[in-house]
Amino acid sequence: MSHAMKAVIPAAGLGTRFLPATKAMPKEMLPVVDKPAIQYVVEEATRAGIEDILIIIGRNKNNLSNHFDSVPELEQNLREKGDEERLAKVQQSNELADIHFVRQGEPKGLGHAVLRARAHVGDASFAVMLGDDLIDERDGLLAEMIAQHERRGATVIALMEVDPEAIHLYGAAAVEPTDEPDVVRVTGLVEKPASEDAPSNLAIIGRYVLTPEVFDILERTEPGKGGEIQLTDALQELAADSAGPGVYGVIFRGRRYDTGDRLDYIKAIVQLAVDREDLGPELRPWIKDFAANL
Ligand code: G1P
Repeated sequence: MSHAMKAVIPAAGLGTRFLPATKAMPKEMLPVVDKPAIQYVVEEATRAGIEDILIIIGRNKNNLSNHFDSVPELEQNLREKGDEERLAKVQQSNELADIHFVRQGEPKGLGHAVLRARAHVGDASFAVMLGDDLIDERDGLLAEMIAQHERRGATVIALMEVDPEAIHLYGAAAVEPTDEPDVVRVTGLVEKPASEDAPSNLAIIGRYVLTPEVFDILERTEPGKGGEIQLTDALQELAADSAGPGVYGVIFRGRRYDTGDRLDYIKAIVQLAVDREDLGPELRPWIKDFAANL
């Protein structure tokens, strides 16, 4: 069943935290080491068996669509030079998946962006993956969420324990245990609560497996936090509906890299680069030396 599931990647945000880099480029195209952030997310989807991906775009869509397209003159140039290694890197993103694009129109929030996927997704469950959150390829998360969705017939979100001081940056979940470790039933959700109002320190991280009922709810979801139509608010309605299958959370304890703000973005690049075979051996001693002289 999972092989037919589609993924939706919202990439229509204004990226204001990264101006001026994002003036003419979506933030999802910012390089993390040597790949745009969104390519990590597309690769993660394909590892979970997803082959059809819809990217919700805003202005500056050409950067994104070009990245997943072929570049004949560049490929020809590399071919003539016999640079097979770089040719493979260029071609890799063209061949990853069947990628589609739809415009959000106006940036009215994550819930509004997800609603734009309705025509493409149809009456089927689908994954939503946010480009600010990168999940290490050694730590499978999405496949586990899809398995939980198939087992329970319910919406599944990814949760992670965060410092209580940081919960105001996320959607926060009230949960109760299930018979499985690190799988919880979500009893309530609140978008970016003040830490004193947060139901727990379990934060929604950017992976969701949603049932199509969410579209009808999003159609009538009023703007919430920040004046935006919030996906969290629609999911709260599903969690509160005792007649439905409910919402479950998979608690992630692996490596997540946040590229959503400048400091975390720098940390993500360093963390990923030190683990790379081509860069790590030289980077690690350099960082030690650099840190010793700070
Ligand atoms: C969005 C969601 C939030 C979630 C977060 C994860 O917020 O609205 O519930 O915790 O992504 O990254 P954003 O970071 O886009 O403001």
